[in-house]
Amino acid sequence: MSDKSITSLAIRRPDDWHLHLRDGAMMRAVLPETTRHFARAIVMPNLVPPVVTATDAVEYRARILAALPAGADFTPLMTLYLTEDTNPEEVAAAHDAGIATAVKLYPAGATTNSASGVRDMEKVRPVLETMAEIGMPLCVHGEVTDNDVDIFDREAVFIDKVLKPLRKKVPDLRIVMEHVTTQHAVDYVRDTHKNLAATITTHHLIINRNNILAGGIKPHFYCLPVAKREAHRVALVQAAVSGDKRFFLGTDSAPHTDAAKLQPCGCAGIFTAPNTMSCLAEVFDAADRLKKLEAFTSLNGPQFYRLPPNEDRITLRKGDPVTYPTHIDTADGPVTVFDPGFDLHWHVEG
Ligand code: DOR
Ligand code: ZN
Repeated sequence: MSDKSITSLAIRRPDDWHLHLRDGAMMRAVLPETTRHFARAIVMPNLVPPVVTATDAVEYRARILAALPAGADFTPLMTLYLTEDTNPEEVAAAHDAGIATAVKLYPAGATTNSASGVRDMEKVRPVLETMAEIGMPLCVHGEVTDNDVDIFDREAVFIDKVLKPLRKKVPDLRIVMEHVTTQHAVDYVRDTHKNLAATITTHHLIINRNNILAGGIKPHFYCLPVAKREAHRVALVQAAVSGDKRFFLGTDSAPHTDAAKLQPCGCAGIFTAPNTMSCLAEVFDAADRLKKLEAFTSLNGPQFYRLPPNEDRITLRKGDPVTYPTHIDTADGPVTVFDPGFDLHWHVEG
């Protein structure tokens, strides 16, 4: 039977394995959009200043928990921002104590608030070796930052120049290539059978670079890594809907105010938290693979992170096009919600 005839789908409650919650008023405004449907999220540490130490993570987690909407059952899984000064023993202790689930590698200058990231991979080798010993995952922003590398090639070059050598030197390190955007990354992950997985965002399953640049520039579709040509988007969809346990959802929902995005040097980031599940159901439905949605959103991630999947379920139902806000209001100004460019027929019940 084709999955196309399905109009109602119960799946284990999803998790978001890559999320930007920000802080303060922005966090309070965006947090309910995630806690409405998701049970857990890997929370990115690129605050200003970044979440570097165990104490930073404990304090940030407390601020998130204090901002939870009434009745929300949500577990933030914290990450530490890797710097060239990060101390291996401190990372191991934070992992042991359940304070930090993973460490995040930003190549310095790769994206929003990445200035304190890593320039020389050799400097962080002792931390990575410790993480390999204790089985703590490294989340990787996989782009080189050299100005002489074309922005559309930065992920592929990162795989060759940084990831492959790193995996040779520290083969037991468990790595999540975050927000993959290319066929190269999909192939690399598929060809690797140990200690490597990848997250895929909602928006990279839906937009290609034409959406950003053809017929006028669309800052709300600008994110990093930047969306690539259509063939790459198709490869990402195939990976996501395949059920392959090495691929799972990390929305990279990254709110910025419209004022921050709509300017001569606008911020990178797409805010997908409010309509992510509807968008994903639409993508899986179009691919006739609705039955694989649960693996992508709710099973493969926990398996890689060695956590149990959520016990409770959500139900998605297909019907008339759903309405969702075009933006949410924050004390800092409006934040535009991702517009997939087509009607969404799936909504999460309740
Ligand atoms: O588009 C992005 N936005 N990519 C990132 O890597 C960071 C994120 C943000 O923090 O806004
Ligand atoms: Zn991100």
